[in-house]
Amino acid sequence: MKVIVVKDQQEGGRKGYEIVKRHMQNNELQVMGLATGSSPITFYNELTASDIDFTNSISINLDEYVGLPYTNDQSYHYFMKEHLFDKKPFAKSYVPDGMAKDIAQAGKDYDKIIAENPIDIQILGIGQNGHIGFNEPGTPFDSQTHEVKLTESTIKANSRFFANEDDVPKEALSMGIGSVLSAKRIILFAYGENKADAIKGMVEGPKTTDVPASALQGHADVTVIVDEAAASKL
Ligand code: GLP
Repeated sequence: MKVIVVKDQQEGGRKGYEIVKRHMQNNELQVMGLATGSSPITFYNELTASDIDFTNSISINLDEYVGLPYTNDQSYHYFMKEHLFDKKPFAKSYVPDGMAKDIAQAGKDYDKIIAENPIDIQILGIGQNGHIGFNEPGTPFDSQTHEVKLTESTIKANSRFFANEDDVPKEALSMGIGSVLSAKRIILFAYGENKADAIKGMVEGPKTTDVPASALQGHADVTVIVDEAAASKL
């Protein structure tokens, strides 16, 4: 894993953008895997302010809450439109269908989309408990897209975006760890002291399902972009 320590989120977003731009110029980026959360926002800001053109590219998002209408401003569909797609459209953008009647089938359909569009660069954030996407501790490293029951810790962490904790959906549909590992390259953003334990577990191991992100140790091309606070326990 390559760890880049940056001054702040602005610099982190710029570094991520430089990597993506280089691969675009080399014609190595047709399919981009995308993530939500606050950590990738400065990266998306760099993309939208740039002249990068995704109109011939495909995007595939990591996850979505189950049962939250796409018009809800906390849905990941809404987040992606607001932070990226409205300003930088892709030829086609996929986000898991958390409103599907049959969530298990929606997961299978999503795996087919990923298989048909292998991800060149996957963008990730990380949860305080080491989750990636919504793959909570205990998720098998070979998992594919699946329905997830969110942990108390994730519900609490994400409640800051909702009016109260009860409004946070209890389930999500997430790409699996196996799907994430199948991406050719991975860029993970993390900032702040509350991510320091997760970053330590991810980078220094052991490789265990207790820390889902530690699965990334088995991937050949991972760039971790962190500020000093998130890197403080390394
Ligand atoms: C959510 C998302 C993850 C994200 C995590 C951290 O649980 N499902 O994809 O990485 O939050 O979010 P933040 O970057 O806001 O700390």
